[in-house]
Amino acid sequence: MNEKKTNSAGERLDRVPRHIAIILDGNGRWAKKRGLPRTAGHAAGAETFRKIALYCRDIGVEYLTVYAFSTENWKRPDSEVKTIMRLLDKYLREAIDTMERDGMKMRIFGDVSGLSPELRALAAETDGIADRIDGFQANICLNYGGRDEIVRAARRWAEDAAAGRADGELTEELFSRYLYSANVPDPDLLIRPGGEQRLSNFLLWQCAYAEFYFTDVLWPDFTKEELDKAIEVYRSRDRRYGGVK
Ligand code: FPP
Repeated sequence: MNEKKTNSAGERLDRVPRHIAIILDGNGRWAKKRGLPRTAGHAAGAETFRKIALYCRDIGVEYLTVYAFSTENWKRPDSEVKTIMRLLDKYLREAIDTMERDGMKMRIFGDVSGLSPELRALAAETDGIADRIDGFQANICLNYGGRDEIVRAARRWAEDAAAGRADGELTEELFSRYLYSANVPDPDLLIRPGGEQRLSNFLLWQCAYAEFYFTDVLWPDFTKEELDKAIEVYRSRDRRYGGVK
């Protein structure tokens, strides 16, 4: 399906990553540079997410996973956390109204028990719709931490194994099914805008073989052309998965 797709310059794309993961970073600095409150940076960042998600769908990417709010982000000022939650509320409602029409699923990865009852209900509704449609899937990591995800998965498998519901011999494949990302292939390409070069507890298990791409561009300034550049770099990399060619 990827063969027929073209990028923003109209060039044919023949090796598009199946799954792209992005750490949404730089919203605060983007706002500061413009003399705006940090919250304005998050609003701009959320719009960039919308644009990039639609572009990913159009060029034949099958999965996009973004890091929107970590288990550590609760330490931010109350007003900033409230704004991010309000934005997520808005985008989830919009997704609920448009997912079927646009052939685009949205799912939440993270500990939803820590969210407000309203957001929890929206996440459940979104999941229900996503279960019955096919197509591009955008995963929003919310109240998410990579180590937390692994510990939760281990606990759930141990409970299942003790109750005789799961195979007592744990394999990588079986363990993967206990992660938020069960049924989603691992990311091929991980992008971090905003100038930092670290993983920040994002998709620790799933990024074992991902290609990393870092850029100084702040997330709200990230464009389709920036994504084309990242994909170009990805296509030039030699993925060996520990083997030799
Ligand atoms: C990191 O930038 C960004 C966040 C912690 C929040 C990201 C959230 C959104 C874009 C809102 C909703 C998202 C979706 C997907 C609808 P930062 O604040 O750490 O920036 P800085 O490093 O420049 O301070």
